[in-house]
Amino acid sequence: MHIHTTISELRSALKNRHRLAFVPTMGNLHAGHLTLMRTARQHADTVVASIFVNRLQFGPNDDFDRYPRTFQADCQQLVDAGVDVLFAPDEGELYPETQEYHVEPPAIQHQLDGEFRPGHFRGVATVVLKLFNIVQPQVALFGKKDYQQLMVLRNMTRQLALPIEIVGGETVRADDGLALSSRNGYLSDAERAAAPRLYRTLSGIAEAVRDGDHDYPRLESDAVAELDRNGWRTDYVAIRRQADLQVPMPLENSPLVVLAASRLGSTRLIDNLEI
Ligand code: PAJ
Repeated sequence: MHIHTTISELRSALKNRHRLAFVPTMGNLHAGHLTLMRTARQHADTVVASIFVNRLQFGPNDDFDRYPRTFQADCQQLVDAGVDVLFAPDEGELYPETQEYHVEPPAIQHQLDGEFRPGHFRGVATVVLKLFNIVQPQVALFGKKDYQQLMVLRNMTRQLALPIEIVGGETVRADDGLALSSRNGYLSDAERAAAPRLYRTLSGIAEAVRDGDHDYPRLESDAVAELDRNGWRTDYVAIRRQADLQVPMPLENSPLVVLAASRLGSTRLIDNLEI
């Protein structure tokens, strides 16, 4: 695997490559990331990954400083997954001057996760557009684990007519259902044991909806109450349309997804399940 830390080095290394698939990450890689890398291989002859912890998408009270940075171990995992090229710039390379031009996503950026993380999706969209311009891939892969992020980036790509196919990857979970996440490493042993409750809660809602319960507000508030009774502090549990993440009309028959964000101790976990 070739590792490049500057834009110019990366550009010349990619010049004669035919079809590129790109998987951007913030590192601390786990099986969720690596599954995306392996899927990328099916879409292109060259797989490019990036590792960059993007300050723009973190709020002032977020975990930017303590976000796990495990570069050596990440490189080994990328080699094992057959990644060809890694782009790993430092902040000075990607943001040599204050980033004053931003991608401003539409109203959805203020809803669901965006309500609790102001500026987050703007920071994500901005860095991803910048990385797209640097790598110029034909295909880019993102996980459904971050469902709202995938939607924002899909819509950005379409509305700005970027010549890139966006591919979504299924959420990879531990055996007990907990969605893999770099932030799971923050959990104490007791919290880790309790964490699968989030997935069980989402599964319960999905099952109830499939069984014909369409009282979505009650399902949502019961789920929040149940989580919080068990020591969680829940930002939201929301049943939404898959297509645009808006609230479904009563008796509307479109595909749904249930999304949640909740805190266990100081760790904020998100998850979702298509119904
Ligand atoms: P990061 O959290 O490192 O995730 C990188 C990619 O891996 C994202 O597309 C994410 O959805 C996917 N992913 C994470 N956990 C997953 C899981 N359990 N199953 C499947 N896919 C999973 O998301 C980001 O970084 C950043 O916002 C980024 C897009 C790189 C922009 O900075």
